[in-house]
Amino acid sequence: MKLKKALITAGGKGTRLRPITYVHNKHLIPLVNKPMLQYAIEYVTSSGIKDIGIITNPEFDELEAWFGNGKALGVHLTYIPQEKPLGLAHAIITAEPFLKGDPFVYYLGDNILRGGIQKFIDAFYENKSDCHLVLSKVKDPQRFGVPQLIDGRIVSIEEKPQKPKSDFAVTGIYLYNESIFEAVHAIKPSPRGELEISDAHQYLIQQNKKITYSIISGWWKDTGKPEDLLEANRMLLQDVEDQQRGSIDDASFLSGNVYVSEGSVIEKSVIRGPVHIGKNCRILNSYLGPYTCIGHGCEILNSEIEYSILMDNAAIRSVDIRIEGSILGKAAVIQKTKGIPNNHRFIIGDQSQVQIR
Ligand code: TTP
Repeated sequence: MKLKKALITAGGKGTRLRPITYVHNKHLIPLVNKPMLQYAIEYVTSSGIKDIGIITNPEFDELEAWFGNGKALGVHLTYIPQEKPLGLAHAIITAEPFLKGDPFVYYLGDNILRGGIQKFIDAFYENKSDCHLVLSKVKDPQRFGVPQLIDGRIVSIEEKPQKPKSDFAVTGIYLYNESIFEAVHAIKPSPRGELEISDAHQYLIQQNKKITYSIISGWWKDTGKPEDLLEANRMLLQDVEDQQRGSIDDASFLSGNVYVSEGSVIEKSVIRGPVHIGKNCRILNSYLGPYTCIGHGCEILNSEIEYSILMDNAAIRSVDIRIEGSILGKAAVIQKTKGIPNNHRFIIGDQSQVQIR
């Protein structure tokens, strides 16, 4: 069976990813040189859905400029501004006129997974569910909505419980029929002032609606924090193609899967994949280690970097010590200074983090 509609979130504030999210919508942060939201759109599209509503934060208008009406991705996108980030259930209320009349998939735009979503849609239809949730076993259930499972049934769901009743998280992939609308209107804001999706699910349970679940077998990540971005990037880089479209001199050595985009020049460097390099980069006399993604127009000179993300036009020049586990925003530069005094000099934005040795 096929669903016709999807709602994808791309609103919120992304406070845990500041300072990057001071200037950019978090859903445009690149993972393997593709905006995070594009993965969500592709997962949904791969199950045949073409009509997609995107919840936006009206403070950022970049999403529309980037994705337009969705034609380039073969879909039709409807942007649905949410006046304030008042919760995931509030986002459904905001999108009600778009969604009404059809079952739909609700997909949180910062969730990255492996393996697509069709099997969850199939389970939703096969079970004739009112609501189908996708669960994943996690080490830290306290951070998520947590189900209590008895005899293969979800008997309760709590949001961010101090004492979780299982070690499963409810991930950001949900399938609903029209009963979700009654639920999102019935619930009240939580102590943090949000209409919580977990409360809407709990309401459905109390109304004896049919809530079923699948357990995710592959990899899943909710990319709320910087370390989650690096992990999602690592996971996605495992599928990177070994393809060199730029120019690589004889003094360089590449191993593992390394994707080098058009116009990039690599000289006297060692690259150990998986690594993805965007267009028009210059890598000279440097080492790029596994799980590194370099945006377009970046420069890496006389430096070593591993397990990191560089956004477009960032540069690292003559840094003596290997850079690891780092995220550089657009046009950010780290470089060695010359002359006297022998010092460090920083011009960094609010809530930036620098760790030096
Ligand atoms: P969250 O990670 O809960 O919130 P956030 O992205 O604003 O980040 P932070 O907690 O660091 O401030 O959001 C999950 C997804 O839902 C993400 O795609 C943003 C989106 N969202 C909305 O679109 N509207 C909302 O009201 C909320 C709370 C989130």
